[in-house]
Amino acid sequence: FVVEGEVAFAKDIVNIPHRGASGHAPEHTLVSYQMGENMHGDYIEVDLQMTKDGQLIAMHDDSVDRTTNGTGLVNEMTLAEMKKLDAGSWFNEQYPQFANPEYRGVKVPTLWEVFQTFGKNKRYYIETKSPEVYPGMEITLLRLVNEYKIDKDTLIVESFSPKSLKKMKKLDPSIPLVQLLSYKSNAMITDEEIANIREYAKGIGLNHQYLTQEYVQKVVGNGLELYPYTVNEKGRMQQLINWGVTGMFTNFPDMLHSVKK
Ligand code: G3P
Ligand code: CA
Repeated sequence: FVVEGEVAFAKDIVNIPHRGASGHAPEHTLVSYQMGENMHGDYIEVDLQMTKDGQLIAMHDDSVDRTTNGTGLVNEMTLAEMKKLDAGSWFNEQYPQFANPEYRGVKVPTLWEVFQTFGKNKRYYIETKSPEVYPGMEITLLRLVNEYKIDKDTLIVESFSPKSLKKMKKLDPSIPLVQLLSYKSNAMITDEEIANIREYAKGIGLNHQYLTQEYVQKVVGNGLELYPYTVNEKGRMQQLINWGVTGMFTNFPDMLHSVKK
């Protein structure tokens, strides 16, 4: 198929392990990120939350209830308290078919530890979650990115909050940004919305369920990248590739890798 005069190849589709290879291992742990790497993921996707003492950690929810053996809000806990929690056993209980005794007792990683483990040349796709709850999240993120000399050409910062993305852009215009959207019925976007997003972001990430071929062609044809989330079925992966998406988030990067081949 042809997009703006260019032929898009399945092998170029960007494979983003969603929260790590989170279909196989407990989300947002070093083990799930490593598995994403082993399964040919192109990025490490990190959702950020911030502890009471200002440390950025990798977690999807703003409370620890679902993905650890603890309870409470992240912004009411110190990092030391967070580090006492078991972030793996819940996965073994919930997904016995993927359970592994090694997941028991794994810790919630800080962003610092993620950078430390995977290095500055890895591609990171980092989401500022609930930025309104965490004033200073963007500057803290930028400080760590600079401290670790993370390659900004391949870094992406994503958020559902345009405010957070614009704050990032102001702090450092060289960091590529992706605007996240969530549709509850047929996905539609106006020329004006596309133009607005293009002012600060290089792409859009959106839930795939209501996506249409027309939407994909309109967005990609207007020069924006498009990353649907979270795609966990082979047939749908193939369809989205045929429609011309840039890449996609999946809990099963091994599955997307096999579809690309
Ligand atoms: O970042 C893309 C996708 O992960 C957004 O959804 O809720 O899983 O962070 P969520
Ligand atoms: Ca995310």
